[in-house]
Amino acid sequence: MASASTSAAVPASKMPSGVAPLRAGQGRSFLLRRLHSLSGIFPIGAFLIEHFFSNAFSTNGVNAYNENVRFLSGLPFVFFLELFFIWLPIAYHSFYGFYIWYRGESNLGEYPWTGNWLYTSQRWTGAIAFFYMGWHVWSMRFNGVHILTNTAAAFWKVQNELRHPWAVAFYFVGIIAASWHFAYGLWLFAAKWGIFVGDKARRRFGLVCILIAAVFITVGTASMVAFLTTPPAPPPATENAWLH
Ligand code: HEM
Repeated sequence: MASASTSAAVPASKMPSGVAPLRAGQGRSFLLRRLHSLSGIFPIGAFLIEHFFSNAFSTNGVNAYNENVRFLSGLPFVFFLELFFIWLPIAYHSFYGFYIWYRGESNLGEYPWTGNWLYTSQRWTGAIAFFYMGWHVWSMRFNGVHILTNTAAAFWKVQNELRHPWAVAFYFVGIIAASWHFAYGLWLFAAKWGIFVGDKARRRFGLVCILIAAVFITVGTASMVAFLTTPPAPPPATENAWLH
């Protein structure tokens, strides 16, 4: 995206090389970097799509949402599915992402735009998503009503979480950060893995990615608005539904 706009005015010798493709021999951490890149798409990106889709059931009402939570938490081998397709990949991608940032290196090649806002946005949206996910997991999974064993209280729990305007703002920022990080991540991935080569194809795919970000932000916001505008769902019936 950014490299395309500069190419006409810059002499050939000084032309930025764009996002370099993944190549072995770029250092010992080649495999780790390739894994970082891939993990952003699968399984983390795939999970993000599933998560936004599942939460969009809130737009169909309390019962539809709770029923979907019941279905997901009743999946066979759910502990291992979460461990290998969510927790470990996110932990790896996050910590290696911070390491790349700390080292001041771009992952798997040069950015022609080190210091460019896209480069910076990918780091900051990753960091915001990291802290957002930390809070989100703690409050939704490890605090308050235990949803996995009280799926009928799932809608109520989210509504309860969103009682405060600051929480709504925080969730909105989290939605925007994760959406942007994933959508621009798709673009980066396509450039590095040689899926789109050439300025024109990359520029076009850039527009597709902006559209993807917009769809994610819209779906996430619509899901949140549904929690805010639906009349209060019933709280859990028993005292032992609570973790603390
Ligand atoms: C919502 C969860 C996340 C998703 C779906 C996701 C997805 C992606 C994708 C698809 C890419 C592009 C892969 C590539 O560069 O080839 C990427 C890159 C990146 N991610 Fe994430 N990511 C997430 C969370 C995080 C977190 C928490 C961090 C921590 C800082 C992070 C740091 C990074 C960094 C630094 C890059 C850019 C690497 C580079 O510039 O070469 N990501 N991410």
